[in-house]
Amino acid sequence: MQDAAGDLLIGNVDMADQATEVTGAAAAQDKNQPRFGRLLLTGAAGGLGKVLRPRLAAFADVLRVSDLGAALGNEAASHEEVVACNLADRDAMDKLIAGCDAIVHLGGVSVERPFEEILEANIKGVFHVYEAARRHGVKRVVFASSNHVTGFYRQDERIDVRDLRRPDGYYGLSKSYGEDMAQFNYDRYGIETVSIRIGWSFPEPRDRRSLASWLSYDDLTELMRCCLFTPDVGHTVVYGMSDNPSTWWDNRYAAHLGFKARDTSEIFRTRIEAQPLPPADDPVRVYQGGIFTATGPFDPV
Ligand SMILES: NC(=O)c1ccc[n+]([C@@H]2O[C@H](COP(=O)([O-])OP(=O)(O)OC[C@H]3O[C@@H](n4cnc5c(N)ncnc54)[C@H](O)[C@@H]3O)[C@@H](O)[C@H]2O)c1
Repeated sequence: MQDAAGDLLIGNVDMADQATEVTGAAAAQDKNQPRFGRLLLTGAAGGLGKVLRPRLAAFADVLRVSDLGAALGNEAASHEEVVACNLADRDAMDKLIAGCDAIVHLGGVSVERPFEEILEANIKGVFHVYEAARRHGVKRVVFASSNHVTGFYRQDERIDVRDLRRPDGYYGLSKSYGEDMAQFNYDRYGIETVSIRIGWSFPEPRDRRSLASWLSYDDLTELMRCCLFTPDVGHTVVYGMSDNPSTWWDNRYAAHLGFKARDTSEIFRTRIEAQPLPPADDPVRVYQGGIFTATGPFDPV
């Protein structure tokens, strides 16, 4: 997973030049929108990274985007810095985060996988994010957590963020660790984080489960804005979902973020409910975490 060059690959901005001139998309901004000087987006080549990359331009003078080199390429818009970096590489992460004011941390393995893969990208990765954040004085992180930290709750249960976490695999465990890192770094060092337990963030819901958990891209963007700019968030945990009437999650403890979802999965219900109903004991019908609760174990062969 080490980047081929084993080092930082830089796009069209000289990393030594921290006073990058800002032009183009990032300059055409709503004058009332607060902005960071330099905002880091990890996982920029992933599904949500590609969605957020152009949209986060409104929130910073300079957007530093990062992912594994092979995934990222090196094309940078005029307001961007492109930096390839493996989350598992502590020194590279330190350089990546130097000079950033805030971090949107999306990077990592995003599905259930063997522990060794999760360890490198997600567990070491989030540790490196906070270590560097502390050293370089970053004061705000938005962490892409997951609904899989509570995946073993049943779909007939309604929960909030103070309920016990019940991760549904190594992936969910790594996100649970990330939330603990966030809380620890706030309590110890005052680094503020919003951990978003993202539900299902794709263009549309695909099944009954995602009718409950869908987060539209527009709502994701607005939630990001709230997470980045709401003052005094401490460590806040919020379920990332649109205004879905069939949700399992109660966001009362994140009301201070002021997030108001504008989209709803309801418009897809008729089409989704035309799909065959899975058997009553199928994990996709029983558990909030769906098939993740039945993925693995990954015994060595
Ligand atoms: N999309 C969703 O519905 C959803 C739901 C819950 C949580 N999330 C979380 O949100 C984040 C983004 O999700 P996504 O759907 O875009 O996932 P994705 O898998 O499409 O993107 C993740 C990105 O992280 C990068 N990455 C993986 N290992 C890395 C490493 N060692 N170093 C550097 N980069 C590495 C990948 O190359 C990839 O581009 C993830 O953390 C995911 O766990 C997403």
